[in-house]
Amino acid sequence: MKILLATSEMTPLAKTGGLADVSGALPRALAALGHEVAVVMPFYGTIDRDSWPFELVLPEVLVDLPAGKRAVEVWRTPVPSAKADNPVNIYLLADAGLFERPHLYGPSGGDYPDNALRYGYFCLGALWALKGLGWIPDVIIANDWQTALMPIDIKLHPAVSADPQLSRIPTLFVIHNISYQGLFPDYLMEHLALPRSAFNPGLLEYYGNINLLKGGILTSQWVSTVSPTYAREIERPEYGLGLDGVIQSCADRLGGILNGIDIDDWNPATDPALPANYSAENLTGKDICKQKLQQRFGLPAEPRIPVIGMVTRLVDQKGIDLVAESLPGLLRGKIQVVILGSGQPYYHEFFRNLARRSPNKLGVKLGFDEKLARLIEAGSDIFLMPSRFEPCGLNQLYSLRYGTVPIVRKTGGLADSIVNVNASTMAGGTATGFSFTHYQSSFMCAELRRALRMYRTNPQAWRRLMLGGMAQEFSWQHAAKEYEKLLQKIVSTNR
Ligand code: ADP
Ligand code: GLC
Repeated sequence: MKILLATSEMTPLAKTGGLADVSGALPRALAALGHEVAVVMPFYGTIDRDSWPFELVLPEVLVDLPAGKRAVEVWRTPVPSAKADNPVNIYLLADAGLFERPHLYGPSGGDYPDNALRYGYFCLGALWALKGLGWIPDVIIANDWQTALMPIDIKLHPAVSADPQLSRIPTLFVIHNISYQGLFPDYLMEHLALPRSAFNPGLLEYYGNINLLKGGILTSQWVSTVSPTYAREIERPEYGLGLDGVIQSCADRLGGILNGIDIDDWNPATDPALPANYSAENLTGKDICKQKLQQRFGLPAEPRIPVIGMVTRLVDQKGIDLVAESLPGLLRGKIQVVILGSGQPYYHEFFRNLARRSPNKLGVKLGFDEKLARLIEAGSDIFLMPSRFEPCGLNQLYSLRYGTVPIVRKTGGLADSIVNVNASTMAGGTATGFSFTHYQSSFMCAELRRALRMYRTNPQAWRRLMLGGMAQEFSWQHAAKEYEKLLQKIVSTNR
């Protein structure tokens, strides 16, 4: 199959979260299965143009919207796949006015006011670029609201929906997070050249606004989320966040595939970001990582004090309110906590102040730092993810691979990937971490206490738990085969 993945971020070129990791790894895993795979993304100003061999392939693609006519450039760079003869081509759409900005989506986790148009031009430009390149995919995988206008345009844009080639391309729409819906004022229907008639509750309209995520769901052939549990959760109001009814209405074409991880990139035995490498056979390097981590955060480098790590967007989704509520009390115990994150200013302020008051127990770094994220994965004993909801979550999977025991709330992908410690899972060797169900800090703290007790009183059991996690298989190989099966079904039923 010829497969195009459309995305707003992709590692290592541009990343704010897990979507980038998925966009970086899934195409290569599909290419390794023998498919011809390409990715299309914006050419952001933050991408280092000297870091990759970028080649200008289309100097001018005209994107004519009522909001104005723009000429975008299309650049290409190949990414090697596991199969050397089958590289993944990355196409990047360049438009200085739209994408040469300091952030991907907006300052401090917010939105640029013209985001609907930025991604409107991107999606339409990407479709016209396919014509210009003479490369018409058998199927498009669109991800989240930023690329929802691809399936929407295919169905509704007057010129695209009349184009004999483009209008026939079926789409798989992947929801990575239903809480970001791409809500915009209704006058943008005209600016994006979408027919007024599509502004109705059965398509794009949502309480007087345009809802791009909803439009992506309703105009795609199939919808997928990034874990089976999240696919079921979003049918309910507490997780569907206003779109539960829409999700229920497409239950017969909705599924969930748990993300994999790139096991070559995230490998403690080779990770160049670590001060020492290690593996399940020899864990000495992990002790060195812990020591360096403690030093990096100015904490006493004591090997027997458990270090609890967090790498996260500091937003309500991630259960940060539970952490904020319980941390002052937890820090009275013999533990150390390290937090790397960025997000809501309130949390920045809160953690900065708390770290000032507990300099020997809490280390906080506010910002985005890929190298430090890896040191935290490697150097911590416990990784905390008490998410209110978590479509998939990648950090718990990275933690398992780095021998760091996750404590998670049992939701979404966390429920699908972590097996809670109890007598029978320990005896059967299937336990990989600790999990709690009720979204309350007392339940989170109870799991933390359980974990700390095992860490302190039963080092053999703790080691078994670590090694059990390291032996888990969450590579993309398995998930890519599920995507392949689904894409084949979408393509064959489209004929
Ligand atoms: P989400 O996409 O919801 O933020 P995921 O767990 O799927 O959550 O993926 C988050 C990704 O972003 C992981 O690769 C994680 O290491 C990375 N990440 C999150 N915050 C930071 C940060 N402050 N610095 C570096 N990496 C971060
Ligand atoms: C979103 C979700 C996260 C998921 C990631 C990649 O950012 O919040 O749970 O792992 O997408 O699919």
